[in-house]
Amino acid sequence: MNGSAQFKISPVGIRGGGLTRPVPQALDSALNRLQYRILKRISPGEPGYMSGEVYKGKTKIKVLLGDHVFDQLRGKVVIDFGCGEGDDAIALAKNCARRVIGMDIREAVLERARAKARQEGVENVCQFCANTDERVDAVVSIDSFEHFSDPSAALMKMYELLRPGGTVFASFGPTWYHPLGGHLFSVFPWAHLIFSEKALIRWRSDLRSDGATRFSEVAGGLNQMTIARFEKLVKQSPLVIDFLEAVPIRRLRLFHTRHTREFTTSVVRCKLNKQ
Ligand SMILES: C[S@@+](CC[C@H](N)C(=O)[O-])C[C@H]1O[C@@H](n2cnc3c(N)ncnc32)[C@H](O)[C@@H]1O
Repeated sequence: MNGSAQFKISPVGIRGGGLTRPVPQALDSALNRLQYRILKRISPGEPGYMSGEVYKGKTKIKVLLGDHVFDQLRGKVVIDFGCGEGDDAIALAKNCARRVIGMDIREAVLERARAKARQEGVENVCQFCANTDERVDAVVSIDSFEHFSDPSAALMKMYELLRPGGTVFASFGPTWYHPLGGHLFSVFPWAHLIFSEKALIRWRSDLRSDGATRFSEVAGGLNQMTIARFEKLVKQSPLVIDFLEAVPIRRLRLFHTRHTREFTTSVVRCKLNKQ
């Protein structure tokens, strides 16, 4: 072990049966404890932002995918991939789609989505399930790509679910380097990049009881998606990009360039085709 490695903050290593680097681990733990206390002081409860208030009185899917989305999906059979509690699927069922299948990995949200569809009188147009093999005209995916544990597999699944000539309409964000890209973990802008994962997870465990020990294990998932990574995954997939846009945060739009976009993008939206 060289001199600089001794001061590197990293977990204790076990080499030849003996513990190496005990001091750095103690330092690591102390720093995590300190960060946890700072987080508790800054935010003893859940931060109030990202509550969806911004879409109150509006149709979220129209705000994110544009006014034309209902025209583009009129009469189509559509899958809402990562549908959550089903609001977007229900909006599609009420406004344009012939039929909508909402898909999500969490049974609890699917159950709430089914109840909402009954309340809105669209239970015959809208079904909610964890999986389907049905081939459809279009897949929409709203605010979900930064949550999929395997986004590359999700793109492949979307490709398989589409009929030839079908389209994926996706919008997602905030991406990882956005000021609030840590979602719940961004107790202030970019806090999720400043504090350690351990300290943030410990802070969260006082508020949520899903037992997550990593960002990737939080209920619903959080995969630290960046714009560059998403572009790369799409290019590696069999889907073809029709357009892919990094929409600037309004107040930062003057600083929004190809080089700054990871930090200045509010949402990514795209249209991907199956040929
Ligand atoms: C932030 S929510 C968005 C829900 C909804 N689309 C909306 O805009 O309100 C992301 C959703 O993706 C779901 N999800 C995560 N991984 C998934 C996967 N592999 N397949 C389907 N849904 C998934 C989560 O359970 C969660 O409900």
